[in-house]
Amino acid sequence: MNIGIIGCGSISNQYMIGLNKYKKDIEVAACADIDKNKADQFSNENNIKTLSVDEMILSDEIDIVINLTPPLSHFEISYKSLKNGKHVFSEKPIALTIDEGKKLFSTMKENNVYLYAAPDTFLGPAFKKAQELLSSKKIGKIIGGSANFTSHGVEGWHPNPEFYYKKGGGPLFDMGPYYLTALVKALGPVQEVIGYSKKTFEKRNVENPEVNYREINVDIDTHYFGLLKFKSGIIIDFQVTFDIWKPYDPKLEIYGDESSLKLADPNNYDGEIFIFDKELYQWELIYSSPDSQNNFYRGLGVVNMVEAIKNNTVSEDELSVPFHILEVMCSLDSYNLDSGWKKIIQQF
Ligand SMILES: NC(=O)c1ccc[n+]([C@@H]2O[C@H](COP(=O)([O-])OP(=O)(O)OC[C@H]3O[C@@H](n4cnc5c(N)ncnc54)[C@H](O)[C@@H]3O)[C@@H](O)[C@H]2O)c1
Repeated sequence: MNIGIIGCGSISNQYMIGLNKYKKDIEVAACADIDKNKADQFSNENNIKTLSVDEMILSDEIDIVINLTPPLSHFEISYKSLKNGKHVFSEKPIALTIDEGKKLFSTMKENNVYLYAAPDTFLGPAFKKAQELLSSKKIGKIIGGSANFTSHGVEGWHPNPEFYYKKGGGPLFDMGPYYLTALVKALGPVQEVIGYSKKTFEKRNVENPEVNYREINVDIDTHYFGLLKFKSGIIIDFQVTFDIWKPYDPKLEIYGDESSLKLADPNNYDGEIFIFDKELYQWELIYSSPDSQNNFYRGLGVVNMVEAIKNNTVSEDELSVPFHILEVMCSLDSYNLDSGWKKIIQQF
């Protein structure tokens, strides 16, 4: 299947490293970017064609568009691609509002094409191992858990950090999908939420000397705390923030009535898993990654998508996950502090 990449920024090179491992089945044929210089540079480095964004979306030679633009452009690029008969693999989040999500969902159905989305880290070895441990009842019956992504933002390292502080950026829509997707894959759908959020800093100082602006006005909340109640009744505490200097560990822990499991960070494809030993009263390493090169796996979701399309095994369940994550994020983001548990209404 022929692939076209739209958005030739920071993450596009990591995708190419991953996708080049599957050259037999997947051909990255072309790239496009709103900034033609970036597209030309990427096409030269990877020996592929440069197209304009419109040419890519209309091209008969492209079967799948990989959407690696910033979050604010995800909807428009994915929607136009689906409308023109292309399958899409989108970076997260798939969209920023329920209305956009509904348009993507109906266009996908009407045109008989598929929209898959990042994160795909749950396809990595560490999450597979964690699922095996959970389903074999290694920690007994699950009673709760804790999911946390805490950092002081991206302005220290990202070459274009501004979009992380505008609508569609921020820790909930940017990092939330990793933790929420892992939880939904492990525990099933979320039924109700309680949320709290705030903007701690009005401005962010850009520390990366390579960026040509020094300050970012923050438009959105950057500190979120919530409770997620799953259909199974399990309640997870959930924190995602760009406002904390000292990162908080654990990233993802699941508690059972027999023991507790510390999963690998769902932001990565692989990592270490620990189980709590009640007798020794300490964490014991139960799995470690044989490969410290995390980038190795970027693109795994695209490979998974291509295989499912070729083998006619696309599952409605898998297609629904990014839409459910959008419902959960929109519910947390619009949570009114005076209300109790807010139901996640299935909208797709
Ligand atoms: N950088 C990372 O570490 C990382 C990791 C995982 C996921 N992501 C996700 O990947 C996506 C891209 O992030 P990035 O870090 O590569 O950003 P980036 O700003 O480095 O690159 C985005 C590229 O998209 C182009 N672009 C912007 N609007 C466009 C449009 N309407 N049409 C065509 N091209 C357009 C820009 O010119 C730029 O080259 C985001 O959704 C981000 O959340 C990034």
